[in-house]
Amino acid sequence: MTIQEAIIFGTKKLHFLERPTLESEILLAFVLKKPRIYLHSHSFKNINPFEEEHFKRLILRRENFEPIEYITEKVSFYGQEFYISNGALIPRPETEILVDVASHIIQSKNCQSIAEIGVGSGIISITLALLHQNKSLEFHASDISPEALFNAYVNIQKFNRSNIALYNSPFLDFNTHQHFDLLLSNPPYIKNKTTLPKPLSFEPPQALFGGDRGDEILHKIILIAKERNIPYVVCEMGYDQKNSIMAFTKNLALKKLEFYQDLSGLDRGFIIEF
Ligand SMILES: C[S@@+](CC[C@H](N)C(=O)[O-])C[C@H]1O[C@@H](n2cnc3c(N)ncnc32)[C@H](O)[C@@H]1O
Repeated sequence: MTIQEAIIFGTKKLHFLERPTLESEILLAFVLKKPRIYLHSHSFKNINPFEEEHFKRLILRRENFEPIEYITEKVSFYGQEFYISNGALIPRPETEILVDVASHIIQSKNCQSIAEIGVGSGIISITLALLHQNKSLEFHASDISPEALFNAYVNIQKFNRSNIALYNSPFLDFNTHQHFDLLLSNPPYIKNKTTLPKPLSFEPPQALFGGDRGDEILHKIILIAKERNIPYVVCEMGYDQKNSIMAFTKNLALKKLEFYQDLSGLDRGFIIEF
C-alpha cells in the first residue's frame, strides 16, 4: 500500500466525519512518525506491512468515535501541544477564556499563590505559569484521578514548570492552612445520568458529571473559597447554570459576581470577588 492509497483508504472509512482526509493524514503521519507534509512529498512511497496494520487499527478506533486526541496522545491548547491520554478530559477551546480571565486577575491583583481544583491534564495552571514566567507564582493543583494527575505530571515536565505542585486529593483537602490569592476550577458540571454523545463516553465520568443537579461541585468550590478567605474565584460552568450560581451566592456577601461568555455567546463561567 502506498501513502496515497493509505490516505484514500482512511478517508473512505472516516467519510462520516467532518474532515475525513485530514484525520486520515493525521493518523498516517502519526504512524510513520513524520510531519503531514512528508505524506504529500512521498505519496507514491510504500508503507511497510507493520505500518499498514498499525494505521488500519487506528482508523478502526476513530471509526468507533474514539477522539483523535486520545489516539495520537496530543492536544492543542492555547497554541501549545500538550500530552493527553484517556484518563484525563480533553481540553476544550472555551477553557482558554478561563485562562484569559484568570491571567487578567493575576496581573491586576498581583496574585502569587494560586490553587486549582480538578487539574486534569494541567492545561490551566501550566498555561498560566507560562504566561507569567516573569513572576514568582506558585500553583497548587488537586485532582481525585491518578490518571489525570499522570497527564498533568507529564505536561509539567514537558513545559519544565517547577512551580506547580500536584496533589491526589479532593478539593483543597491537601493543604488546609496555606493562603491562596486565587482559586481556579473547570470542574465537572454535567447533570448525573445525562445521556452523552458517543465520543464523550471515552472521557472519564468523574471529569464530566457534577452531581444530581450538575452544579453541586461548583457550589462546594464557592463555599471553600469563602471559608478559606480566598479573595478571587474563577470557574467554568454549564451554559444554563447562571441562575443557580446567582441564587446560591445571594447571601454570601460577595463584593462582585460576574459572568463571562464563550465564543458562541453562551454563559460559560464566573468570577467571584469576596
Ligand atoms: C472538567 S475536568 C477539567 C480538567 C482540566 N482542568 C481542564 O480544564 O481540561 C474536571 C477534573 O476535576 C477532577 N475532579 C472531579 N471531582 C473532583 C474533586 N472533588 N476534587 C478534585 N478534583 C476533582 C476530575 O478528575 C477532572 O480531572
